[in-house]
Amino acid sequence: MDFLNKKIQKILFICILSFLIVNLTKSEINEIKDVSKFLIKSGGGTGGCQHPIYCNGTLLKTIQLTQVFNDSKTFVDMPMRTTIENINELFNQLLLNTSKNGGPNKEELAAFLSENFYPAGYEVEPVTPVDWVPNPSFLDEITDPNLVDFARSIHGKWLELTRIFNTSGLCDGCYSSIPVNNPFVIAGSRFREFYYWDSYWIIQGLLVSDMTTTAKGMLRNFGDMITEFGFIPNGGRIYYLNRSQPPLFTQMVNKYFEATNGSDIEFLQEILPILDQEYQWWMTHRTTELTNGETGESVILNLYNVSNNSPRPESYYEDFTDAQSFSNVEQKDYFYSSIASGAESGWDFSSRWMSPYDNTNLTTIQTVDVVPVDLNSILYLNEKILSSFHRTLGNNSMAIYYQAQSESRVDAMQQVFFNEDTYQWNDYNLKTSTNNDAWYTSNILPLFADIQSSIDMDNQEIDLIFKSLANVLIAYPGGVPTSLISAQSLQWDGLNVWPPLQYWIIESIMTPNTTFSNMIGKNLIDRWITTNFCGWNSTLESEGGMMFEKYNANFIGVPGGGGEYVVQNGFGWTNGVDLYLLKKYGKSITLNSC
Ligand SMILES: *[C@@H]1O[C@H](CO)[C@@H](O)[C@H](O)[C@H]1NC(C)=O
Ligand SMILES: *[C@@H]1O[C@H](CO)[C@@H](O)[C@H](O)[C@H]1NC(C)=O
Ligand SMILES: *[C@@H]1O[C@H](CO)[C@@H](O)[C@H](O)[C@H]1NC(C)=O
Ligand SMILES: *[C@@H]1O[C@H](CO)[C@@H](O)[C@H](O)[C@H]1NC(C)=O
Ligand SMILES: *[C@@H]1O[C@H](CO)[C@@H](O)[C@H](O)[C@H]1NC(C)=O
Ligand SMILES: *[C@@H]1O[C@H](CO)[C@@H](O)[C@H](O)[C@H]1NC(C)=O
Ligand SMILES: *[C@@H]1O[C@H](CO)[C@@H](O)[C@H](O)[C@H]1NC(C)=O
Ligand SMILES: *[C@@H]1O[C@H](CO)[C@@H](O)[C@H](O)[C@H]1NC(C)=O
Ligand SMILES: *[C@@H]1O[C@H](CO)[C@@H](O)[C@H](O)[C@H]1NC(C)=O
Ligand SMILES: *[C@@H]1O[C@H](CO)[C@@H](O)[C@H](O)[C@H]1NC(C)=O
Repeated sequence: MDFLNKKIQKILFICILSFLIVNLTKSEINEIKDVSKFLIKSGGGTGGCQHPIYCNGTLLKTIQLTQVFNDSKTFVDMPMRTTIENINELFNQLLLNTSKNGGPNKEELAAFLSENFYPAGYEVEPVTPVDWVPNPSFLDEITDPNLVDFARSIHGKWLELTRIFNTSGLCDGCYSSIPVNNPFVIAGSRFREFYYWDSYWIIQGLLVSDMTTTAKGMLRNFGDMITEFGFIPNGGRIYYLNRSQPPLFTQMVNKYFEATNGSDIEFLQEILPILDQEYQWWMTHRTTELTNGETGESVILNLYNVSNNSPRPESYYEDFTDAQSFSNVEQKDYFYSSIASGAESGWDFSSRWMSPYDNTNLTTIQTVDVVPVDLNSILYLNEKILSSFHRTLGNNSMAIYYQAQSESRVDAMQQVFFNEDTYQWNDYNLKTSTNNDAWYTSNILPLFADIQSSIDMDNQEIDLIFKSLANVLIAYPGGVPTSLISAQSLQWDGLNVWPPLQYWIIESIMTPNTTFSNMIGKNLIDRWITTNFCGWNSTLESEGGMMFEKYNANFIGVPGGGGEYVVQNGFGWTNGVDLYLLKKYGKSITLNSC
């Protein structure tokens, strides 16, 4: 822990440096020793990043708006070869040298960067996971030899995707990664660091691969983040310190605990107070109170609500450009908060977060005014798990507290989200006081959290939900589309088929265990594994078998598209979902033809 504290404090110090300079003289800066404490005081653990190179300032703005790289994320992942002071000095020289031509052009900036910065991801090093074995036992449980090859290849990808941050040799504050103590598995491609919600599926895949040490190390990394920051940032970079991601840490710990047959009580004792702490962060910084107009009753639900007033550094060009349609600061800040909140939701970006009157137009984004079904379903399940964890460790008062929290939440969710005509749960928009009745895969997420057992919904009623959704659940060869709304800029919509969403739908469908649900569930598992298998098989010779970040519902084996970057290969959560399904259903999966 000493290692972590020291490094993170250094980074945080740099992060808030420019903020401090505004308010304090140099000698006062030296007096502030406990920087992380200062950060928490400045915003409940959401102080964000003010790093003068990576998060704010003229250099960042110039590089990003000139589009030196196609992907805005490239620059903010480049460690510096020399100190912040030197970089700023050299950059000022460059501005001076080029002032007669109106400032540096793209080539001059590129030359400046290659001289003074290392390539993106320089401090992220591959590492061989200590617990990887060539033949994990789950392979024996799969029947189809094609699927055995497929599963073995996915299992092998952990070797390609495991990393450590190695910042030795770099100067203080000269990189944007957040150091952690244990190796972690990345998503892949441009996502070259760990991500919060991705890790939920990655860890499930690791557990199938019998890699409990790697999984536990990742859990410990996340626990350390909560201890340091009060919450888990979106990913392992300081420019993500403004925001979190869907709070799946408690469920990760639960999956680990189940996979080790409840034997690691010591770890549970160590981690449970930290899970409590994360829960309180969400209940303090991410709630809203709604009053039922008919009964006058007030309920509390959670929403994504990031405090932010600037472009996301890793998408600077995109955010800055989009914000130009606003004339005043209030509108801009609302946009920047809603954009960062959309990123916090994991669904970046979706018509779910847009104005209902113009829902394919990204600049109408209003995430901070949308109460989402999926976030509350996740927190409901967390409350059930936390209650059960505390019961396991003999703390009945805490077990009762979480049980009561879960009951209040179900009550609130039924009042605010539940549509009695369609039997689905629809997001609620605080601005328009309306539910969003369109189809989104998140509409049935409460079933994954097993809300049905608390609301007297029997299996026949659940079957009715699935029957009414036959058009989206059965009709597409490549899986279940995210929504039926399409726009090029919105990748969490339309025909994109996202692995985490397929996982949740499959779990929701298979858990009730009725004849009908088992039938459509099995059909969906076959289609999903087929599209992944075919994408892998057709690229086996050229690329070693690609696993995409997302797929296209209309085709078999074809990646999805749209959004702010090109489709990514690797890919952490796809591998995790597939290993989970291959282990659980490996005897019964039938591959369709490609
Ligand atoms: C985060 O939010 C703070 C406060 O709104 C803001 O000053 C900062 O620029 C934001 N961005 C990042 C990357 O932290
Ligand atoms: C961020 O950078 C801008 C432009 O360089 C500057 O005006 C602003 O004061 C900076 N913000 C902070 C909190 O230092
Ligand atoms: C950047 O994008 C342009 C236009 O889309 C493309 O022609 C170029 O090859 C890309 N460059 C890199 C390095 O990816
Ligand atoms: C600026 O110009 C001076 C004089 O030609 C040169 O020595 C220096 O290296 C240049 N600096 C940068 C950053 O371009
Ligand atoms: C970290 O990088 C340094 C050099 O930059 C190297 O000497 C060292 O072996 C690396 N450490 C690990 C654990 O890879
Ligand atoms: C979101 O957070 C801000 C403070 O950052 C608060 O003023 C606002 O009321 C919150 N939104 C909701 C819907 O509670
Ligand atoms: C998108 O929304 C913005 C902000 O509301 C508006 O200014 C713009 O005209 C809209 N664009 C289109 C194409 O409708
Ligand atoms: C239960 O947990 C709470 C919160 O951590 C703590 O204050 C209390 O002392 C614990 N009670 C028992 C019986 O362990
Ligand atoms: C599903 O139901 C069948 C028949 O009632 C039963 O044999 C089976 O164990 C159940 N499966 C699960 C996973 O509960
Ligand atoms: C996998 O790809 C190879 C080469 O393209 C092809 O011959 C084979 O039939 C494919 N396997 C399946 C099961 O589709």
